[in-house]
Amino acid sequence: MAAEVVVVGSCMTDLVSLTTRLPKAGETILGHKFFVGFGGKGANQCVQSARLGAKTSLICKVGNDSFGNDYVDNLKKNSISTAFVGQTADAATGTASIIVNSEGQNVIVIVPGANLLLNFEDLKRASDVICKAKVVVCQLEITPAVSLEALKMARASGVKTLFNPAPALADLDPQFYTYSDIFCCNETEGTHRTPVSCFLNAVRKLLCLDYASGLAKWCNGSHFGAEILTGIPVGNLEDAEKVGRMLLERGCKLVIVTLGAEGCMMISGDEPIPKHVPAGKVRAVDTTGAGDSFVGALAFYLAYYPKLSMEEMIRKSNCVASVSVQAPGTQSSYPYRKDLPQDLF
Ligand code: RIB
Ligand code: NA
Repeated sequence: MAAEVVVVGSCMTDLVSLTTRLPKAGETILGHKFFVGFGGKGANQCVQSARLGAKTSLICKVGNDSFGNDYVDNLKKNSISTAFVGQTADAATGTASIIVNSEGQNVIVIVPGANLLLNFEDLKRASDVICKAKVVVCQLEITPAVSLEALKMARASGVKTLFNPAPALADLDPQFYTYSDIFCCNETEGTHRTPVSCFLNAVRKLLCLDYASGLAKWCNGSHFGAEILTGIPVGNLEDAEKVGRMLLERGCKLVIVTLGAEGCMMISGDEPIPKHVPAGKVRAVDTTGAGDSFVGALAFYLAYYPKLSMEEMIRKSNCVASVSVQAPGTQSSYPYRKDLPQDLF
């Protein structure tokens, strides 16, 4: 049977150090724990979907190295089809060096490696699987043109497209807006808002009055996903609504802005009054990959419970993602269907 959820995206080996605080430039600090995990936004989303019970296929590329071999095993263990997982000798498996502080906040450096070698030919080979899916999910850790092509192939066959523009790109090809049925971006990429970050956001807003005109480029490269796309720093719900409206104007049908601990904001052409879908309060240990858990869960609900309202799908996906922030790591913290409240299904 064909996969219902097809993800075209990245695999990264996560190299994670736990520290009390994040280091400053030029500083060496002591960490108290190190672990290697399976990550990468594409694979993370696929794994979360599979753990909820979705039949999934991941279209990706890893290196012909030990990280790559381990990764293929990991996908198989998660019951994901590896028919279109390529291995190349021309680049190393992607890595993400991640530092997580005691508040669960992180900084990440990714080296995409083999991920950038996933190409149009690979998509062509997988076209049958893409075109027979219920939902195709893409992100931006592979060559953006390849993600866009996958969305186009899906759309041409009437397959629902779910696009997560992460990590954020300042000059995103505008076709991404029109080829995404659901455009799901993060206010902050993998971090939860703390009083300090809210304060910093307020300061950034004051300083960035002319940000939209492109003068205050110093914010670029930060993890403020929605902000990088629209120039609007998202500090509260109203800002998220502004982002949503702007993205609708750019051609999106439905926009979700994930707000970390605050849940999500959704807005669509059909329902132009923005809706806030709050998340339950939990104590965050490690928020890395929480956005991926959310997107993977949403793909599952879109494919298997298409009659649910979008608000309900988002509420359920929030519940899944909030479990993931309570344990360290990305995939290592993603819940299985059997461990979740059964009213989610
Ligand atoms: O979104 C979280 C992921 O981003 C991590 O698993 C890491 O691999 C980075 O790509
Ligand atoms: Na986690």
